Amino acid sequence: MKIPITKTFFGPEEMAAVQKPLETGWVVQGPYVKKFEDQFSAYTKAQASIATSNCTTALHISVAALGLKPGDEVIVPSFTWVSTANVVEYMGATPIFCDIDLHTFNLDVTKLENLINERTVGVMPVHLFGLCADMQPIMEIAKKYQLWVVEDAACAFGAWYQGKHAGTFGDTGCFSFHPRKSITTGEGGMITTAHTYLETLSRSLRDHGASRTDLARHTAKAGFLLAEYNHLGYNYRMTDIQGALGSVQMERAEWILAERTRLAQRYDALLADLAWLATPCVPEGYVHGYQAYVCLFHPEEPTLANVERLNERRNAIMMILEEKGIATRQGTHAPVTVGYYANKYGLKPEQFPNAHLAELLSLALPLYPQMTQEEQDFVNSELRAAFKATAT
Ligand SMILES: Cc1ncc(COP(=O)(O)O)c(C=O)c1O
Repeated sequence: MKIPITKTFFGPEEMAAVQKPLETGWVVQGPYVKKFEDQFSAYTKAQASIATSNCTTALHISVAALGLKPGDEVIVPSFTWVSTANVVEYMGATPIFCDIDLHTFNLDVTKLENLINERTVGVMPVHLFGLCADMQPIMEIAKKYQLWVVEDAACAFGAWYQGKHAGTFGDTGCFSFHPRKSITTGEGGMITTAHTYLETLSRSLRDHGASRTDLARHTAKAGFLLAEYNHLGYNYRMTDIQGALGSVQMERAEWILAERTRLAQRYDALLADLAWLATPCVPEGYVHGYQAYVCLFHPEEPTLANVERLNERRNAIMMILEEKGIATRQGTHAPVTVGYYANKYGLKPEQFPNAHLAELLSLALPLYPQMTQEEQDFVNSELRAAFKATAT
């Protein structure tokens, strides 16, 4: 049996959808991107949705539109995909890392306020693996210090907090449609915002800073004249082929999310008796989107002193599973320990103990909507067998 970490779900509707732009010949950002954006707004209840080429470019546009500049500081979690911090670096500003809560893998709100100083301009909470960060206190602190908030909602499609969808709390929210996410357009991203000026500016920045879109120009009178370019923009557009794909994935979204949730809850039940594995937590008032099913391997209380040893055993378990045909992954990485940040800022893992523990002890199990009961039972039994086989 071969069980990948995830599988895209494409049916005949997706196959047909991607052909439509090819038939009309209009393949750059156009009507299907617009349709996808409208569906995304309808689902998330965001005021506006702006599609981009991926989530990293969505984040980059957001911080550029908010005026991030050299000398500024932005608080980001110490356990996240490296893009969250990278976009701050792109602007010549400095990411300030905040440690995480080991139960949720999200920003530890109790550590946030201490990191704020006169250079701090914003905070970028990440809704990791489909669980929202604790947005109420984050928004309160942001308001108190007049900070903007960009939600890194790359993993958070289908994630809700106190009745609101991820990406609708901060100034912007940024989503990813990479194939490891619940719905996919190959590569793809989306910005959500309730600010009209950020919507207008983001639409322009994704398109070289243009004052109107190619489609608008091509369908208007005097389309031979170029748009105005008053901003330093980028080419971060989504193609209409991806828009058509995203639009059909949106039509399937309820089913995809329901299946992911059903399977995640089945894992919860199957693994409940394992004292050495913490399954994903879902606090009161949260709906988990289950972009990934990420557990914490903790055969004993993890500390900086024993983490290397526990990590060796986690990796040995993952290796055995790989040999059995079961793909697993570490949850994500701790940017504070990647060469670029560690070298540039002289960061040490001990400064971010929980991020360090999460990097070395997180364990993502396979999850995809078409996963069968037999596959899931096989993961469960092989995981148990691998734990036993690595006992010393
Ligand atoms: C938390 C987080 N932020 C940003 C990204 C970047 O998304 P993309 O690959 O669409 O640029 C990812 C992708 O995995 C992510 O997990």
